[in-house]
Amino acid sequence: MANSLNQNIKPSTLRVNEKGNLEIGGCDLTELADKYSTPLYVMDEATLRGIMRNYKDAFKAYPNVNMMYASKALMTKAIAKIAADEGFGFDVVSGGEIYTVYSAGVDMSKTMFNGNNKSVEEINMAIDYGVGRFSVDNFLELSLLNEIAKSKGKVVDILLRITPGIECHTHEYIQTGHLDSKFGFDLTQLDEAIDLIVDEYKNINLKGLHAHIGSQIFELQVYYDEVGVIYKEMKRIKDKYGIELSEINLGGGLGIKYTDNDVPPSTYEIAEVIISSVKKHVAELNLHEPKIYIEPGRSIVGTAGVTLYTVGSSKQVPQGRKYVAVDGGMADNPRPSMYQAVYCADVANKPLETDKEVVTISGRFCESGDILIKNIELPKLEEGDVICVYNTGAYGYSMSSNYNRVLKPAMVLVNNSQSDIIVERESYEHLVSLDCVPDRLK
Ligand code: LLP
Repeated sequence: MANSLNQNIKPSTLRVNEKGNLEIGGCDLTELADKYSTPLYVMDEATLRGIMRNYKDAFKAYPNVNMMYASKALMTKAIAKIAADEGFGFDVVSGGEIYTVYSAGVDMSKTMFNGNNKSVEEINMAIDYGVGRFSVDNFLELSLLNEIAKSKGKVVDILLRITPGIECHTHEYIQTGHLDSKFGFDLTQLDEAIDLIVDEYKNINLKGLHAHIGSQIFELQVYYDEVGVIYKEMKRIKDKYGIELSEINLGGGLGIKYTDNDVPPSTYEIAEVIISSVKKHVAELNLHEPKIYIEPGRSIVGTAGVTLYTVGSSKQVPQGRKYVAVDGGMADNPRPSMYQAVYCADVANKPLETDKEVVTISGRFCESGDILIKNIELPKLEEGDVICVYNTGAYGYSMSSNYNRVLKPAMVLVNNSQSDIIVERESYEHLVSLDCVPDRLK
């Protein structure tokens, strides 16, 4: 079966150029570091579009599929434009994500609003902005949504989020589909929700069921099983209520290759498993083929993104590790300290250098846990070298902070030897722009 770009560690356009430097999208990474300063997030448009096309291609055999890019992995207006241009809709989970995709001018009917504690303000906003579907997570939301929709004279289309009880072998914090989860209706609560919709909530139109089993998943069987759990419920609901639901949302989760130890399936494998499971269950249970939603996030933007850092100080612990510090760290990429995530890197200005040593790349933040990469073999590093950390496109910028009052990096989009800023570097003025000093302190 064909490969897809989530199975590579590096962006598809990465190469060593005639100057002996790394380039991505035809742009020399050392020149990008000079021009835009570091830390710098770099997104490769060719890889980004490439993986979206891998998904579309993979699901060709089942045209009734809606790809909803999971904004939480990385959302900026330019990213929204590209995803919309490739025909993707959006999984959004906050007023901020709704506002960003709306500002980018995307078709709001192709958005699905997820989340376990949507506020009244966000629900109002979602209805006013024309969000296409709500994935309703709990009883409070069901009643609020009905009330707010009623006050606007609208009927909103929803899916019910269920907890499918499927465990996958990913980091505990990013598992969501197992039974002890804060997300979704337990299967034993589903009928109570449907009773309310059928009997009372006339401003809610139930279209289907939604589940999401976790993130950075390498297994295929869990998707097969997830469809099975959803279909068991679909059949039960049809038999009990006479309602045949027409939509299923299987969430996201396809893994990416951070290191050689990671062996994620391709988009083609995941599509085949999903489609075969849907067809089998539909045939066995004598139901209609549904509209399928999938919500990939990490696998869309992860591999397309790298982060550039400049090397600063270093410390050789006597008889111990050598720490080499860079100008970013846990504020621009909290994943190593939060999830013990492991990344690969190269040195952009001397990728082919053979004189190597094992070092630990530390960040610049005031915390011992601020380590980006432990024990990596790299060409001997000197102050001013530019390190390129791979696979940082997902959940890096989107989870970044201003810890230590450090400015958030810029993000550039590269393609065909052109680089464009898609997120500006913060300035110190930005940093204090929301601070207020009460008069009595002046
Ligand atoms: N749909 C739902 C309902 C989700 O909760 C998520 C991710 C996705 C889709 C997208 O999943 P993906 O395709 O990106 O795996 N911050 C963590 C990941 C948290 C994922 C949360 N939900 C990390 O950096 O690993």
